[in-house]
Amino acid sequence: MPMSLDLAADEFRRLAAEAVRIAAEYLESLPSRPSFPPHLAGRELAAALGEPLPEAGCGVAALDAVARLFDSSRPNSPRFFAYVMGSGEPVAAAGDLLASVLNQNVTSWRSAPAAATIERLVIGWLGEAIGCPGFSGSLTGGGSAANLMALAMARESRAPANTGGAQPAVVYCSAEAHMSIAKAMALLGLGRGNLRSIPVDAQFRMEPAALEEAIREDGSAGRRAIAVIATAGTVNTGALDPLIEIAAIARRHDLWLHVDGAYGALAAIADAERFAGMAQADSITLDPHKWLYQPLDCGCVLYRDPAAARAAFAGTGDYARSLYDGAVEGFEFFEESPELSRRFRALKLWLSLRYHGLGAFREAIVRDLQHAQDLAGMVDAEPALERVAPVELSTVCFRYAGADDDRNRAILRRVIERGRVYLSNATIASRGVSNGDGRFALRACFMNHRTKNEDVTAVVEEVLAAAEETGA
Ligand SMILES: Cc1ncc(COP(=O)(O)O)c(C=O)c1O
Repeated sequence: MPMSLDLAADEFRRLAAEAVRIAAEYLESLPSRPSFPPHLAGRELAAALGEPLPEAGCGVAALDAVARLFDSSRPNSPRFFAYVMGSGEPVAAAGDLLASVLNQNVTSWRSAPAAATIERLVIGWLGEAIGCPGFSGSLTGGGSAANLMALAMARESRAPANTGGAQPAVVYCSAEAHMSIAKAMALLGLGRGNLRSIPVDAQFRMEPAALEEAIREDGSAGRRAIAVIATAGTVNTGALDPLIEIAAIARRHDLWLHVDGAYGALAAIADAERFAGMAQADSITLDPHKWLYQPLDCGCVLYRDPAAARAAFAGTGDYARSLYDGAVEGFEFFEESPELSRRFRALKLWLSLRYHGLGAFREAIVRDLQHAQDLAGMVDAEPALERVAPVELSTVCFRYAGADDDRNRAILRRVIERGRVYLSNATIASRGVSNGDGRFALRACFMNHRTKNEDVTAVVEEVLAAAEETGA
């Protein structure tokens, strides 16, 4: 048989129909699937798939192994509450398929007129939805990439490095900031050592007075301060830094203000008041693949001034430059981003927002917030459990009371093995002072449009059952 990459006329239909059948059956089975595949499944899969690179293909039968792959994967279960993970909204998944079929390279309007238009439209929608209208931006692989881009803009705006190289400069964030901030410092040549870790209060929020003091200290020592990074939803406990106070301090000291809202910013759709101050930022990270439930990957960086993005990222070869002028036809993402080739991430988000409407997302976020309050209430009412952090957004951190870290770790492992709910863990300082010697906590984060009230109740049931099974 001659080998060709061409598909016969009806071959794609057959393949896609089979893929859709697998996808639909998977989605229907989610409530009854374990919240994590048995550990053995991953090893079995590796053994089962350990075949040599095929020289000749097998056609549609190539999909046979996919069901196995699905069974060995972490399912988007209604009872998955780990990390900060969205739940994979299926309309958006259909959008991803269509985006791949369309295969646009969203570098610029010139190379992808419709896709560039839709991405810019969706960026406008996101800014509007979180109370920050008028921001520009682009979709990214995730919050880490968005934070890196924001810090690159901050640096170029306050301590330009693109021509002469990095100059010494300091940046401030709270002790609870996400690891991607320190990584960005390292990658940009600013150095992790120049990231000032500002203490937090008992609610795990940055202390504005301590921030101001650190800025003054650096100023007196002749060090150049360039940016403050406030976190809107810390990864450990979901704490919100005091955005209004931090914005005032940033303004007073002429610092770039970035809000890392990868976890929390999209909750402004449901509760704008709590995020007052965010609109004063120079840049904002948000993650539609978290709290807009989009399938990975779909992060976003918003910025107030596109000229700051161009100052950081422009400098593209003539071979890519637009032949057109003007705000529409002349628009180039590659002049405002480190990426040249970019996939059509906006299609899934556009489709999913049009299909459901923003109101449905708002309701889902409100439910997540309520689920966290409900679980906090159940933990507080259960003498065997002890809550170890306030619930600001949708994260609840707690321990099995009177047990040490090792016992709590064993309980978490058992909870996961039991397969009904999936929780993760966090290290929580006892008085909000994050100095690395905190206690181990079980952590449930609600960011799941499939979760029902009984799934929340299952958390306490499972932890108590796991505690009994692991009891000394
Ligand atoms: C506060 C915060 N910032 C940044 C990130 C990184 O986002 P991503 O995983 O999309 O790179 C996370 C991820 O959980 C986060 O919680």
